[in-house]
Amino acid sequence: MTSMPKCRQVRLARHPEAMIQPSDLVIAETQLPPSGPTDVVVRNRWFRVSISTRLMADRDAQAVEGIPFPALSPGDTLADGAIGEVLACPPDSGFMVGDFVSHPFGWRDHAVVPVGQCVALGRGPIEPAAYLGHGWTAYAALTRGIRIRPGDTVFVSSAAGAIGSMAGQVARRLGAARVIGSTGSRDKADWMRADLGYDAAVLRNGGPLADQLAAAAPDGIDVFVDMVGGDHLVAAVGAAREGARFVLLGALTAELDRQGASVVAPAALDSFQLILKDITLRGYSADRDVAAFAEWIAWQRDAGLHFARTMVAGLDAAPQALHDACEGRLRGVVIVAL
Ligand SMILES: NC(=O)c1ccc[n+]([C@@H]2O[C@H](COP(=O)([O-])OP(=O)(O)OC[C@H]3O[C@@H](n4cnc5c(N)ncnc54)[C@H](OP(=O)(O)O)[C@@H]3O)[C@@H](O)[C@H]2O)c1
Repeated sequence: MTSMPKCRQVRLARHPEAMIQPSDLVIAETQLPPSGPTDVVVRNRWFRVSISTRLMADRDAQAVEGIPFPALSPGDTLADGAIGEVLACPPDSGFMVGDFVSHPFGWRDHAVVPVGQCVALGRGPIEPAAYLGHGWTAYAALTRGIRIRPGDTVFVSSAAGAIGSMAGQVARRLGAARVIGSTGSRDKADWMRADLGYDAAVLRNGGPLADQLAAAAPDGIDVFVDMVGGDHLVAAVGAAREGARFVLLGALTAELDRQGASVVAPAALDSFQLILKDITLRGYSADRDVAAFAEWIAWQRDAGLHFARTMVAGLDAAPQALHDACEGRLRGVVIVAL
């Protein structure tokens, strides 16, 4: 390439006080740095907005093993999974101009990406949510974290969210007989039943979860896919059947605490129940099972899944999208189209 394109990117302007606001972020224009002999230059077409960005924008944020986001300081450019179109690449890289690649440098319209951080997606039509969404996280959790057995009753917390909107569908296709999800509003509960195949929903602000779960799963639950922790985890232990398997993926109760994001998520569990019911609790990060991603891409092609996503247009809309995602206003994975 003779001249490098300019790059618009979203940066952290200041640490958020409690809930992250669009004004905590700023859009800057800069010259794209020159690419080296092992770099690919891409024009981004889509990137993901993750609520974990709020956590890592916190004043006290520190790099945490298992969270694939760096802690952010004012002036830093945000990053997240992206899909871009190759504008230039080294001749022996295996890529060609016009190919789609996924890479970790979202929140900007152009990027210079080391070849080793690009994954080839070919040239055809792309469903961005298949690659940027968290179907693969749900798939990895339910095939490697724990294993679904035919006839299982499965409870998923934050079931309208990025992981949860896929977890119920994946569980069903792996053999679950009944899937129940939690959410924050009746609208989302209706949508989960209509579009995501959930049999029943419980509301996180809709009265005691134990009572709601007892009504939704009168015979108890076999599997719990947990994104929330806290009261959800306590209620799931109460509803568990003998031999239940829990896979713990996130702790939104701490991460989306309105007073401030935290990585400390206490829950007062009745350990006697864990013993008497022979419950397995497994903390799990899909990032440790990267091989699951390729398997997911092949598996999802014929699985007839509904890719639940909120699509937002343009870089300028991205800061508001992060705020709205953290406020629980959006559904499925949040993707910015550029
Ligand atoms: N282990 C792994 O491999 C892995 C990978 C990626 C992400 N994660 C973690 O998994 C969790 C879920 O990630 P995600 O991207 O799928 O997020 P998400 O579920 O899309 O999170 C947003 C949703 O959280 C719910 N929410 C908002 N405030 C809440 C609160 N105070 N308590 C409980 N729920 C609240 C809202 O849904 P409702 O209004 O419908 O409740 C909101 O739409 C996060 O903790 C994330 O860090 C884990």
